[in-house]
Amino acid sequence: MAAYTFTDHVYDVVVVGAGGSGLRATLGMAEQGLKTACVTKVFPTRSHTVAAQGGIAASLSNMGPDNWQWHLYDTVKGSDWLGDTDAMEYLAREAPKAVYELEHYGVPFSRTEDGRIYQRPFGGHTTEFGEGPPVQRTCAAADRTGHAILHTLYGQSVKHNAQFFIEYFAIDLLRTEDGVVQGVLAWKLDDGTLHRFNAKMTVLATGGYGRAYFTATSAHTCTGDGGGMVARQGLPLQDMEFVQFHPTGIYGAGCLITEGARGEGGYLTNSEGERFMERYAPTYKDLASRDVVSRCMTIEVREGRGVGPLKDHIHLHLNHLPPEALHERLPGISESAKIFAGVDVTKAPIPVSPTVHYNMGGIPTNYWGEALDPTEHNPDRILPGLMAVGEAGCASVHGANRLGSNSLIDLVVFGRAAAIRAGEVVERSTPNRPLNSASVEQALDRFDGLRHADGKLPTAEIRLAMQRAMQSDAAVFRTNASLAEGVEKVTAVARSLADVKVTDRSMIWNSDLMETLELTNLMPNALATIVSAEARKESRGAHAHEDFPNRDDAEWRKHTLAWVHPDDTVTLTYRPVHLDPLTTQEHGGIDLKRIAPKARVY
Ligand code: FUM
Repeated sequence: MAAYTFTDHVYDVVVVGAGGSGLRATLGMAEQGLKTACVTKVFPTRSHTVAAQGGIAASLSNMGPDNWQWHLYDTVKGSDWLGDTDAMEYLAREAPKAVYELEHYGVPFSRTEDGRIYQRPFGGHTTEFGEGPPVQRTCAAADRTGHAILHTLYGQSVKHNAQFFIEYFAIDLLRTEDGVVQGVLAWKLDDGTLHRFNAKMTVLATGGYGRAYFTATSAHTCTGDGGGMVARQGLPLQDMEFVQFHPTGIYGAGCLITEGARGEGGYLTNSEGERFMERYAPTYKDLASRDVVSRCMTIEVREGRGVGPLKDHIHLHLNHLPPEALHERLPGISESAKIFAGVDVTKAPIPVSPTVHYNMGGIPTNYWGEALDPTEHNPDRILPGLMAVGEAGCASVHGANRLGSNSLIDLVVFGRAAAIRAGEVVERSTPNRPLNSASVEQALDRFDGLRHADGKLPTAEIRLAMQRAMQSDAAVFRTNASLAEGVEKVTAVARSLADVKVTDRSMIWNSDLMETLELTNLMPNALATIVSAEARKESRGAHAHEDFPNRDDAEWRKHTLAWVHPDDTVTLTYRPVHLDPLTTQEHGGIDLKRIAPKARVY
């Protein structure tokens, strides 16, 4: 192996990733005086949260009656009764506080006439425990809410002296001999140096793995790096079969057209000009939950009512809305539609189709963000030294399907929760334990092996094979046959990584090596997804299984845990869903009868 030298860094906390959850965790840690490093492979304000458009859910009641219990009910129903009740209660209760904190940090929210934060309707968010009209719960900064949040959190983190390590790629977790996570080994992309980060707490905020698919709204950087690092440590990933398709990706390009477009009055039509959602979801129509809308669009296309020469997509109309409203509330998507679809939204509909958007599954955690290392006897066992937040983690607050705008609120509520918890458990005065050299060696061996990989298959070819298999076999609708074929194909592709060829051996700005490292992270995420999906013999949330069209609570109301082994086999076990809320009814909590499982209709 080539000789490598290291630069060493010692911190209380290292946060990997600088999107919404990573920055909110970083800021919260730094505010408490914890010595905090944030390691990020892209400049913080280029993290994928910057692309979040429509808004952030919180029951502020600025536009009409709302309360946290209605938000909790909607989140439970949206999750198709797979979310953990304690985590969902925490999200709904803490959301208003977290949004007001953002406001005070300086997020430039859109405003109502009387100066309050503007809120819009979003899919699946209702009043009166799903019996009343849609609620305006989604707080927005026009259609650039993620952008506004990210810039504000970055500025605040810098102000509080968090240290940023920008364009550093985290290669692997480092662990003590007794398994405590103690930081990461990272590669500085612009000068080729290697860095050992020794920390008492490591927070993975690395985002989702949308790029395991061929078409996704996710940035090319969404490569499941945290999930990959965790899987390589022999730790499980949870509920990976639940992959969300956003109903309105621009046809062909995949860029997001926010659900806020339907929140502001947009609607979908088929080739007959019919507002077909009225047939499938008579009450909430185009504002049904997004898994439901994506499935209805897919059915319309399958039954021959798609639009366009190939009849393979759907129209989203905004052209009936006043141009001033589009300009004020939806400027970003008006521009995207022009650039990527050639459409003037004031005059014509946007061609859209369901597009991979979000991973409900991830690294299992409790609602404080502490990573879990579950055993049969202790499914909630905490793994010391590691946290995961945002899309990388699975708290599990979204269960089998996430509601739109519950993602941004998840990022800030749980980023903040992780900081609060770290403030309690990180012992500031105790020195960091020395790094385990065997763990460093192992991470370095893997890095060096890939750097000098001299097989026959270029990284791009293997990645494309994985993306195509996932796109066709872990799709909106799944069958026994498609999933079995998917397991076979993805396993074969994963094994072909042993024959990868990296042509650039340099250490500086080596995008070939970086993409290969990313591919080795995407792959265990993809494997866990397809194998978990193949095993789940029911339909729930985003997992629509045509051979098992019903939800089966007796057998399947449980979380999947997937261990991806070095030989690319996957072992599955299951852990119970948390059914108990944080607060009992007599102490102001929800009446559990309100959130008992029932048929999920919109
Ligand atoms: O449609 C959107 O603006 C996306 C929001 C979300 O995924 O939460």
